[in-house]
Amino acid sequence: MTTRPTTEPAIRVRGLKKSYKALEVLRGVDFDVARGSILALLGSNGAGKTTAVKILSTLLKADAGTVGVNGFDVATQAAEVRESISLTGQFAAVDEILSGRENLVLVARLRHLENPGRIADDLLDRFSLTDAGARKVSTYSGGMRRRLDIAMSLVGNPPIIFLDEPTTGLDPQGRIEVWRAVKELADQGTTVLLTTQYLDEAEQLADRIAILHEGRIIVDGTLAELKRLLPPAEVEYVEKQPTLEDVFLALVGADSTQATAAKPARTSEDSR
Ligand SMILES: Nc1ncnc2c1ncn2[C@@H]1O[C@H](COP(=O)(O)OP(=O)(O)OP(=O)(O)O)[C@@H](O)[C@H]1O
Ligand SMILES: [Mg+2]
Repeated sequence: MTTRPTTEPAIRVRGLKKSYKALEVLRGVDFDVARGSILALLGSNGAGKTTAVKILSTLLKADAGTVGVNGFDVATQAAEVRESISLTGQFAAVDEILSGRENLVLVARLRHLENPGRIADDLLDRFSLTDAGARKVSTYSGGMRRRLDIAMSLVGNPPIIFLDEPTTGLDPQGRIEVWRAVKELADQGTTVLLTTQYLDEAEQLADRIAILHEGRIIVDGTLAELKRLLPPAEVEYVEKQPTLEDVFLALVGADSTQATAAKPARTSEDSR
């Protein structure tokens, strides 16, 4: 693990630009992610979220601007950046024919880590996959696969992780399972940058939210700060109606759901 004991942010992005031929996707993107925090990069389809994540994780070159990750420059210190991060892409990278445990052992071996079996068992435990560990991934639910995918990206304990749309395509229960795994990561000090199109995901998980729109970050702040951007709503006394998600989850009756709902909000600034 390559960590620098400094107070500088884990990720610093300044003036980032990227075009695909005539298509200007990023037109000067600026944001920071503090160490040990979760930033949600929010944007519609095609806003440039994956493009930004690819540049931050050294898979793609920027046209202009600077990006520092764990204190290293992505353009000139790509190897150090790669040692500091892991990336879970938009589409799961697990091997269906192997078991969950075999997938984890494989990654640990590829990274030349000692004791791959123990690393695999620890991660299975952290992601509540111990019981399913010996089963082929082809039998896993979408939420389990996604959790395994995230677990695989944590082999070797990188201090910074990128999650590109970690819950797209999952049902509400699967999303809650992934949210819980991500919250635990941040609680243990990992810096998380996640992209999402879901407002509720950003509300649930992020310490800060940055909205990418037309190539720029148009707002960046805590949920409470973002809410203050709108004038206060008129006070009306109405019964609070459950959301469709409340109804769905009550009927499906997931234990994990109740555990998550009962958990207090992570930040004091979160006014929900
Ligand atoms: N390799 C490429 N060549 C040309 N255009 C590309 C390429 N990759 C992405 N684009 C275009 O750049 C824009 C931004 O794409 P990107 O994948 O970064 O968006 P996104 O915010 O991740 O979207 P989504 O929510 O659908 O994942 C889109 O219009 C996309 O079609
Ligand atoms: Mg994308």
